[in-house]
Amino acid sequence: MPVLPATTETIDRAAALLRAGAVVAFPTETVYGLGAHAFDANAVARIFEIKNRPTFDPLIVHVDTNAMLETVVASVPDTARDLMARFWPGPLTLVMKKTARVPEIVTSGLETVAVRMPAHPVARALLKRAEIPLAAPSANPFGYLSPTLAEHVQRMLDDRVDLIVDGGATNYGVESTILLLEPEPTLLRHGAIPIEDIERVIGSVSRELSGETKPLAPGRLPSHYAPSKPIRIVAHAEDVPREERSGAGLLALRNPTEGYAAVRTLSPRGDLREAAARLFESLHELDREDVTRIDVEAVPDEGIGVAIMDRLRRASHR
Ligand code: TXA
Ligand code: MG
Repeated sequence: MPVLPATTETIDRAAALLRAGAVVAFPTETVYGLGAHAFDANAVARIFEIKNRPTFDPLIVHVDTNAMLETVVASVPDTARDLMARFWPGPLTLVMKKTARVPEIVTSGLETVAVRMPAHPVARALLKRAEIPLAAPSANPFGYLSPTLAEHVQRMLDDRVDLIVDGGATNYGVESTILLLEPEPTLLRHGAIPIEDIERVIGSVSRELSGETKPLAPGRLPSHYAPSKPIRIVAHAEDVPREERSGAGLLALRNPTEGYAAVRTLSPRGDLREAAARLFESLHELDREDVTRIDVEAVPDEGIGVAIMDRLRRASHR
């Protein structure tokens, strides 16, 4: 499977492949995406096959201009305009009414489509060159840890994708925040943009879906983003009995604790942005170590820490 550095030639080649219906992995500022031509139902179907993703799980469509957005979204509510002005390009996904051009497989039959304008220069260059919206979920097998390096994609999906564009480590390390706008602003997934920042722009956002408007979102499933080893969240590793540490891995927040078989540290300074950026990479590494399970220290439930804890709770759920 070709993994190519994100040069102009690679981007040209990736864009040509995508236009022709291929599936290409590429970096975004959040995690690596597995992209296909959003208007090509057959190409999109391959994403579901490759990821082993249930077709009731709709995809996010990536655009790079307002003109491209208009081909995907039928109407843009005022709240969405305000949010786009503030956060796009960036890690905010908005769910709005779709146009007829978006095939049902992209939205799992819903009348709405999730769309975002990514900020990563490689994602932008690819969209610009391909001149088509790209449907792209995270480039991991369904339910498994999200990829923050090209190498993760290679290890997990290898020969199943047509090309992997290597743009180095992603910036945020957790996925975009997802917001449904109508009938009322509702948070569908915690993510890179803290919900408080969003509320500063459009006022209060509901945290709970009302029964009527319940779209399926596996990012909301109790078990998701999981490594193959069992995960346990602990307040402080220092308080874990010695005998429980041996043979186990530790994902520490600031400082390593003795007695564990393998340790990764998220951020010695206790910086939550840095911790988010290292989260999945550290879990990928610990998952490959010779350990029976992984203890993870809880991080403060604030700012991007909310998205980290959300991922950890789902990763630890069995
Ligand atoms: O940061 C990200 O958002 C990354 C990068 C690649 O852009 N993408 C990503 O995609 O995390 P994915 O497929 O792993 O997560 C998409 C989530 C799913 O949980 C899906 O159910 C939800 O978005 N979603 C998509 N369309 C929706 C819709 N019309 N209504 C409600 N939820 C939707
Ligand atoms: Mg995902």
